[in-house]
Amino acid sequence: MNTDQTIKSRKTAKVLAHEPWTPSITKEEQEQLTQELLQLAAHAPYHYKSTERYKDLERGLTSSLPFRCYTLTSDDCRAAAHYIEEEAIPAGKVQNMLWASDIMMVMTWLPDVFGEQGDVDNLAAEQLPFTGTIRNMEHIAAASAATQNVLLGATARGLPNYWSSGGMLRQKELRDFLKIPLNELMLGCLFVFPKDSDVRAADVKSGKLRDQGKEIELWSSPVRL
Ligand SMILES: Cc1cc2nc3c(=O)[nH]c(=O)nc-3n(C[C@H](O)[C@H](O)[C@H](O)COP(=O)(O)O)c2cc1C
Repeated sequence: MNTDQTIKSRKTAKVLAHEPWTPSITKEEQEQLTQELLQLAAHAPYHYKSTERYKDLERGLTSSLPFRCYTLTSDDCRAAAHYIEEEAIPAGKVQNMLWASDIMMVMTWLPDVFGEQGDVDNLAAEQLPFTGTIRNMEHIAAASAATQNVLLGATARGLPNYWSSGGMLRQKELRDFLKIPLNELMLGCLFVFPKDSDVRAADVKSGKLRDQGKEIELWSSPVRL
């Protein structure tokens, strides 16, 4: 697949399993795939560095990139789904997707914040709304570019994928379970599903807006001077 074909083939595939699936690839292959997709994310453009406050020496998260990525293997996905079930968290389709996915990656972005900040561990929720600065806009843009690289990488490998806002995975209970700090803002949960998802008797739902926005003349305009 060339670049244009990869971009045009990317599409939302919400794979809903009705019970936990056996992954289609080994643990080692999951780790390898994750590393490859992270490499693609790392090659996205970015403009501004994040601030020192986000450096987490304990976890070795010392990059000044304006985003972070937390990665889950199929076992981690199933463990999260199990926790959701045990705690009766109303996570809806997220649970079905955690049963299906071979890997999942949670992308967050790191907002510039101003004034006194509370202790991260005591936050009850993400700090919204964030401050509307150019830098914050460009942090999101950079994290989005990295996210799209991951989706394109999965697509090029023939792997169904889905960019979800995260639903209940955004909220404190599951954030704590996944150990994703609440001072970061979740940009997306990127589900990567088995290649043969469609023959595993699952529901595969497409994006509601898939067919919209393809008429380029309706959102682009030539500047003729
Ligand atoms: C930032 C972002 C968040 C999204 N979150 C969700 C979501 O929570 N639920 C959902 O059904 N689709 C979500 N989507 C996927 C869109 O619905 C999908 O991209 C759109 O319908 C177009 O379909 P396509 O991806 O197949 O082109 C999200 C997309 C983006 C860019």
